[in-house]
Amino acid sequence: MRSTALAMALLTTASTAAAASGATPAAIERATADVLPQVVAWRRDIHQHPELGLQEVRTSRIVAEHLRSLGMEVQTGVAGTGVVGILKGGRPGKVVALRADMDALPVTEQGDLPFKSVQKAMWNGQETGVMHACGHDTHVAMLMGAATVLAQLRAELPGTVKFIFQPAEEGPGGAEPMIAAGVLRDPQVDAIFGLHVFPYTVGHVVYRAGPLMASADEFTIEITGKQTHGAVPWGGVDPIVIGAQIVTSLQSIVSRNVNIAKAPAVVTVGKFAAGNRSNIIPDKAELVGTVRAFDNEERARIRARIEGIATEYARTAGGSAKVTWDLGYPVTVNDPALTERMVPTLQRILGPGKVSVGPLTGTAEDFSYFQQQVPGMFFFLGVTPPGQEETAAQNHSPLFFVDEAALPVGVRSLASLAVDFLGGG
Ligand code: NI
Repeated sequence: MRSTALAMALLTTASTAAAASGATPAAIERATADVLPQVVAWRRDIHQHPELGLQEVRTSRIVAEHLRSLGMEVQTGVAGTGVVGILKGGRPGKVVALRADMDALPVTEQGDLPFKSVQKAMWNGQETGVMHACGHDTHVAMLMGAATVLAQLRAELPGTVKFIFQPAEEGPGGAEPMIAAGVLRDPQVDAIFGLHVFPYTVGHVVYRAGPLMASADEFTIEITGKQTHGAVPWGGVDPIVIGAQIVTSLQSIVSRNVNIAKAPAVVTVGKFAAGNRSNIIPDKAELVGTVRAFDNEERARIRARIEGIATEYARTAGGSAKVTWDLGYPVTVNDPALTERMVPTLQRILGPGKVSVGPLTGTAEDFSYFQQQVPGMFFFLGVTPPGQEETAAQNHSPLFFVDEAALPVGVRSLASLAVDFLGGG
């Protein structure tokens, strides 16, 4: 009850401050309606001209030209193809950042949209189709629309808005290098917001305070034994038996070491490679696996346990093991206080029953790097026509589909979160 009362009090404060400033919810709604045809046109154009990560040259040029046309200070070529626009409001205040990712995927589009992509690119040495199969085209268009809306309210805006258009969310990652390039400084960002389209019902938003999306790390365990004849095992050290013991013991990490009261986790070995015939015990074996976690401390602990189990088992058996990591994105963690404070803004825009708490999501997001630096909130925007939720294609599918009725919801959400955050002091 206390949290509800607190949230309502903050909502009132934010709305009052915004209303006093002239950047009212009604003004945002009007400006959104005005810019909507442009948002749809941008989205279709970008959808038809998708670009893979770090190759978003055309997209970032369109973004930069638009931000400049709004009279913003614009930085281009940030961490490759990233673009940052800085909108200084007419009154002093805090700094809020809004982020969109710009990259497409090596997927050949299978739908029949009139603005379907027929782009091709080289990927892993092979020609492939390119498609905005994760909907980042809509993220770019909605943030461009929010920039238009907020630029119109500039004189009344108490603070600064940074528009961050990042490359390569699908890999190798654009958020971390943009942070290294100083995107959160000068002026220092106080909070950051971002959204992702997802096959929830259009007109709905799904959020979660605290952990939302998983970390995703890959490990390789190289086991060294000693080759011998399969009929004379005592003459060597069997890396397959060591590997089997390691695989089994790794399963004890989730069942015995992870604090499940805090967050779940997964440890999977997806590859076990060793030997080539029945009567030869080989020198080496290789295990490759993935770790998904929803808590950054648990993530570190799992990593340490995997290393301990692998090296100690191998040593005890007379062999050795080397563990190497390909660390992916950290856990996407929404700042609980910021989330609690801003959810009423989304509830006001979407209406009763349309903003709900969602489950943990096993995919990863490099928005998480921004959230390690400043309080951040990331949420899912529903883009699936009502009644099709069960059958809708998932993100990354060649049939991924976005109902454009979601676009004004996203524009209003981003613009309103910025205004209410700044107005709330
Ligand atoms: Ni995505």
